Order: sequence, then C-alpha cells, then structure tokens
Amino acid sequence: MMSGTTVASRSAVPGAGARKEAAGRSRGGNAADAGQPLLDVRGVTIQYKTQHHLITATYRVSFKVLQGDRFVVVGPSGCGKSTLLKAVGGYLAPTEGEIRLKGELITKPGPDRLMVFQEFDQLLPWMTVLENVVFPLKTTGTLQGKAAIERAMHYIQKVKLTDFANSYPHTLSGGMKQRVAIARGMAMEPDILLMDEPFAALDALTRTRMQDELLQLWDEIRFTVLFVTHSIPEAIKLGSRILLLSPHPGQVKAEINSVPRGQENSDEAAALGREIHDMLFADQIEEAPHASSANIPGH
Ligand SMILES: Nc1ncnc2c1ncn2[C@@H]1O[C@H](COP(=O)(O)OP(=O)(O)OP(=O)(O)O)[C@@H](O)[C@H]1O
Ligand SMILES: [Mg+2]
Repeated sequence: MMSGTTVASRSAVPGAGARKEAAGRSRGGNAADAGQPLLDVRGVTIQYKTQHHLITATYRVSFKVLQGDRFVVVGPSGCGKSTLLKAVGGYLAPTEGEIRLKGELITKPGPDRLMVFQEFDQLLPWMTVLENVVFPLKTTGTLQGKAAIERAMHYIQKVKLTDFANSYPHTLSGGMKQRVAIARGMAMEPDILLMDEPFAALDALTRTRMQDELLQLWDEIRFTVLFVTHSIPEAIKLGSRILLLSPHPGQVKAEINSVPRGQENSDEAAALGREIHDMLFADQIEEAPHASSANIPGH
C-alpha cells in the first residue's frame, strides 16, 4: 500500500543537482532504430510527498524500450525501480519528464500495460486459476464467454498449469501463483508486460526454473517485457538490454547489452557481472567509464 503521494509539480531535487546523468549508449545500426520506440521514458523524476518529507525516488531517468526487448532495470534496494515501473503502469505521475507508449502519453493505467508483482497474493483468492485469468479479459471488455476462456486456457497451458485450472490460489505454491499472474498478464496480450521482481521471493531452484520458463515463453511469443530486479545474475540471464540505476535517488548509470541467450554461465557473463557490480557501486557516476566496453552484441 502506498502511503505517500507523488508530487506532480516541478521542484528542487535535494542532493541530485551536482550529479551528471550518464548517457545511455545508443543502439545504432539496426532497422528498429528508425522506427518509434515502443516505450519512451524521458527525463523522469518521481517524488513522494509524505507528511514531513519530500522523497526523490528517481531523478531524470531516460530510456527507450523497443518491440521485443527484454529490458531489465537493475539497481540497489530503494533506487526507485518499483516507482519507475508504477509510473510506466500509470499508477504514479512523474514530477518532471514524460512517459510515452507508442507515442501516447501515459496518464493512467491501461490494459496495454499489465503488471506482475513480487507478492504471491496478487490473485483473487475466491476465484479459481481459470477465473483469475479470465477476469481482466472480461472486465476490460477484451473478450467474453467462450473466447475469454479459450484465450485464458491457452496461456494457462503456456505456463504449464492446465491441470490446475480449476484450483484455488491457496492450494498452489508460490511459484505456481506467480505463473498464474504471468498467464493473467500475458492473456491480455499487452503491448508491454511489466514485471516487478516477480521471482524474488522464490527459492533458488524454483527461481531458476521460472527464469527458464519466462525465456521459453519469450522464444514462443516474443512479447516485450520491462523487468525489474536487484539481482545482477538475473538481469544478465533474462535481459537483452540492461539499465543500471544508481542508489537512491535512482539515476541512469548506464545502458548495456547483455550476453547472448543461454550464455549466462560464460566467462563473458561473469565479466559483465563484475562490471555491472562495479558500476552500480562506484561512488561517482562519472567513474563508470566501461559502459561501452560492455557492449556485447546479440540478444
Ligand atoms: N509510497 C511511498 N511513500 C513515500 N516514499 C516512498 C513510497 N514508495 C517508495 N518510496 C521511497 O522511494 C524510494 C524508492 O522506492 P522503490 O520502492 O521504488 O525502490 P526499489 O528500487 O523498488 O527498492 P526494492 O529493490 O527494495 O524493491 C525509496 O526511498 C522509498 O522509501
Ligand atoms: Mg521494489
């Protein structure tokens, strides 16, 4: 639950003015660059106003997500990752800057942006798995009746839960509940799937399996995902592109390509992991000169 409100007018950002935002390396050369980015986050500062404080969660964050990107935002706890995702979801308004999806300014939540949260209790407990997945399809008027059920079953099958379609959430494990939440998000076939540390609370083995399943799903469907994590290995494994945010207030430190798919255990990945770690925890943003040398081509 959110206790604060965001500040919708421009105001001074304490302690952030002296720092310089590191320029994200641009992706030159490929054809998609010629077109519009799917998601365009431009100079976004988000502040929370509590009774006694003005908290700057993110400061002038900019990035672009292209169609089919597995775009991962990584940064330490409290750097504003969830805040940023909620703003893309349309739940929070930036203090300055703007966020556009397919060129349209985001001002409110919409079925074109579905969110999967970290918590296991995001399902409606009085509804079965199938009913949970069908629910947003019906309430948004996307599909009704048989068509809604068919679409829901299609995605339930994709997350390997066909046998549990008529089960209630309390009878499922944490990992299974997350798969239902993913199926529910994907069934809406949103322009972009927003995932806020969806695997963070899972045991290591389940987490690895869920990561593999997500990548398999991506191979099949090629959806666009904006994924938030504070795990560097998870970012390298899942991401095609990785945005590094500095500690609170979150500012862009670098934007880099990950290693090619399936090479998350390579020496190259280990080196990238060290590089990301050094960049994230370097004192000064200016002391992060290796962003471009981390440009390892391939998704
Ligand atoms: N509703 C709120 N009211 C006031 N301050 C908030 C609120 N939500 C977040 N913040 C503050 O904004 C900053 C960013 O929080 P946010 O939850 O976005 O970080 P995060 O990067 O997602 O962290 P974590 O990795 O721990 O999930 C923090 O300093 C936090 O205390
Ligand atoms: Mg968070």
